[in-house]
Formats: sequence, C-alpha cells, structure tokens
Amino acid sequence: MPNTLTLALSKGRIYKETLPLLKAAGIEPIDDPETSRKLILDTNQADVKLIIVRASDVPTYVEYGGADIGVAGKDVLLEHPDAELYEPVDLEIACCKLMTAGRVNEVEKKGRLKVATKFVESTRRFYAQQGKQVEIIKLYGSMELAPLVGMADRIVDVVDTGNTLRANGLEPLEHIADISSRLVVNKASMKTKHARIQKFISQIRAAVREQRND
Ligand code: ATP
Ligand code: PRP
Repeated sequence: MPNTLTLALSKGRIYKETLPLLKAAGIEPIDDPETSRKLILDTNQADVKLIIVRASDVPTYVEYGGADIGVAGKDVLLEHPDAELYEPVDLEIACCKLMTAGRVNEVEKKGRLKVATKFVESTRRFYAQQGKQVEIIKLYGSMELAPLVGMADRIVDVVDTGNTLRANGLEPLEHIADISSRLVVNKASMKTKHARIQKFISQIRAAVREQRND
C-alpha cells in the first residue's frame, strides 16, 4: 500500500511486548487483536496499519512486501537465512535462549542422535558445527513430548525459565543462541518510504533505550 506504513506482528507475547514501543513512537492500535477477528487493525495514525500474522510467517510477509516492517524472534529469522530483509533494531523483548534439551540424567547414546524440533535450520547448523551427524525430525510444536514417547533423543527449543522442560522431565543441555525480537524491514519499502521508515526506526531505537533504563 503506497501511502501507508504496514507493520506485521504476531498475537500474544510479541504483540504485548511491542505495544509499549509503538506507543512511544506515537502509534496506538484502535482494535485489540486478542478480542477482534480482524487481521488488519487500524491505529490512531490514519496511515499506519497493523497486520496480525503467525510468528513464523512475519519474515515472509515482510520479504514479499505484504508488510513494510515486522517484528520477528531471532529464532524465526535464523530459520530464514536467505530472506532479503533489513534487520535494523534489536528490540530486546521476548528474550529467551535456543537450546538443546534431553531427558534428565540420560547418558548420551552411541550413534546417530534423533533430534525433534521446529527449528530445523538452526539445528542442522549447530550439529554440523559440532561435527555430529544427527537425524532431524520436523515438528510444529509440543517438542517436549518427543523424548517422552521415545521418538527422539533430543529436542531443540526456546527456553526461558526452564519450567516447560522441568515439567516434562527434561533438562537444558547446550546453548545454541541468545534470542530476542528484531525489527525487520522490506528492502523496497526502505527505498520508497525512506524518510517515514527512518523516522519510525529512530523513534523505536529511542523507545528501546528508554525501556532498558526502566
Ligand atoms: P507460531 O504461532 O508461528 O508457531 P509461536 O507460537 O512460537 O509461533 P510465540 O509463542 O508468540 O509464537 O513466540 C513468539 C516469539 O517469542 C518466538 O519466536 C521467540 O522468539 C519468543 N519466545 C517464545 N517463547 C518464549 C518464552 N517462553 N519466553 C520469552 N520469549 C519467548
Ligand atoms: C514457549 C516455548 C517453550 C516455552 C519455554 O512456549 O515453546 O515451550 O515457551 O518457556 P519456559 O522455559 O519459560 O517454560 P509458550 O508458552 O509460548 O507456548 P507455545 O508453545 O504456544 O508457543
């Protein structure tokens, strides 16, 4: 949309944690995505719209110009290594770690490990760097189940408090990456809407600094 700025966000954690940053940049949504069925939300600024997409679809919407700007977890961006995107700001929100995990006190078996994950790209790269041959089993959620039902020896997932792992008799093992959410920008929009986007980026950078000092 030529004269508007479209921002892609996912519901839940990212929406909640991005809202104060948007507010500091003068942008306040009129509808609440948690209660509204609308996927395009108006804001107090007539030329700024929010679109609500799956967290893992944000890079795709922004790369293909469905949105000018998006907020995506680094875990999700690492799964799109070839995406043509700018990643100008670390928003320092939705912080967690990408880790391997396995059953508590399990002795590592000899031979090829089976690793269940939705983070196939990061998992492949991590074990390749370790020189380990593993079999990766792609899942879309509830990875913690896979070792419990004997389907996998390891999982790769995001960990914050570790409560989800503990509740399922698993423990974190190796650290793969520190994760936070990033602002991503469509390359063509950065050219055609340069002044508008640069202003938005500086406002968001200021809001991130402010948030850090709170
Ligand atoms: P999708 O709907 O595409 O499957 P999702 O359910 O993983 O995505 P969210 O749970 O909203 O989406 O997570 C969004 C982002 O928040 C993740 O990409 C990750 O960067 C971060 N995140 C996930 N879990 C946690 C957590 N427990 N604590 C902090 N940040 C997290
Ligand atoms: C995320 C993620 C982990 C959990 C880790 O799930 O998938 O399972 O957080 O956090 P913890 O270490 O603090 O337990 P979330 O609660 O977002 O639900 P989801 O699986 O629907 O994304």
